[in-house]
Amino acid sequence: MMKYALVTGGSRGIGRAISVRLALDGYYVLINYRSNKIEAEKTLFEIKSNNCNAELIQFDVSNSIEVQNVLSGWMDSNKDKHLEVLVNNAGVNKDNLMVFMTDNDWEDIMSTNVDSFFYVTRQLLQNMLINKSGRIVNIVSLSGQKGQKGQVNYSASKGAIIAATKSLAMEVGKKKVRVNAVSPGFIKTEMTESLNEEELKKLIPLNRFGTAEEVADVVSFLVSEKSSYITGEVISINGGMYS
Ligand SMILES: NC(=O)c1ccc[n+]([C@@H]2O[C@H](COP(=O)([O-])OP(=O)(O)OC[C@H]3O[C@@H](n4cnc5c(N)ncnc54)[C@H](OP(=O)(O)O)[C@@H]3O)[C@@H](O)[C@H]2O)c1
Repeated sequence: MMKYALVTGGSRGIGRAISVRLALDGYYVLINYRSNKIEAEKTLFEIKSNNCNAELIQFDVSNSIEVQNVLSGWMDSNKDKHLEVLVNNAGVNKDNLMVFMTDNDWEDIMSTNVDSFFYVTRQLLQNMLINKSGRIVNIVSLSGQKGQKGQVNYSASKGAIIAATKSLAMEVGKKKVRVNAVSPGFIKTEMTESLNEEELKKLIPLNRFGTAEEVADVVSFLVSEKSSYITGEVISINGGMYS
């Protein structure tokens, strides 16, 4: 029987690698994106080239009404299909020293990185509980574990999701829904392309940035039966920078 997964921000960077990986694992993947349809189409093309199945689903994860309308619309037209995997991956950063940080810098990060978790997860959770089957993986960040200067807003958002992961895992474990977080360090994507990799890699014991595919492999493990006794965990993938 076909298994269904939703990957928010599944069109580029880490989300693209997760979408491709889950499709290869046998999932029909709903690839969410906000605005860059060209990149989303490339991800869909890559999945179809591997003879796997997926579709695009456009909505802004930070907009409660949009999330509700689009996802309930999909579920109403696909009543026989159960979205058993949710990867809350969409995220943004707007780095600045706190003393210069504007209300917008704070609010944009909180709405995209934190409110989104609530809006999207709430929408899928009821069916996971009814079906007694669900895996939720939240992509957080090393910044949310150890802090990072210039990222007070981003660190606060990711720390919030780490706490939410642990609480939700306690709420839904009895209904066979597992909730975990994956916490990357420096991963090569558009988000990190302006960083000085040559300098920063000196801080990393494994002496390099990670790849999106390496993060996707951890997600693949966490949604599989191989991790069936793991819930409420934060799995770091940071080349040894922090544990
Ligand atoms: N790269 C790293 O080193 C690193 C490290 C730690 C954690 N992370 C986390 O990993 C996740 C992915 O990061 P990335 O580096 O892959 O980022 P990225 O390359 O910038 O890709 C971001 C993705 O999120 C989507 N997105 C952004 N805002 C959205 C919204 N409001 N609604 C729906 N989709 C939205 C984008 O879609 P559009 O293109 O359509 O806007 C895109 O697919 C984020 O949560 C990030 O915080 C990344």
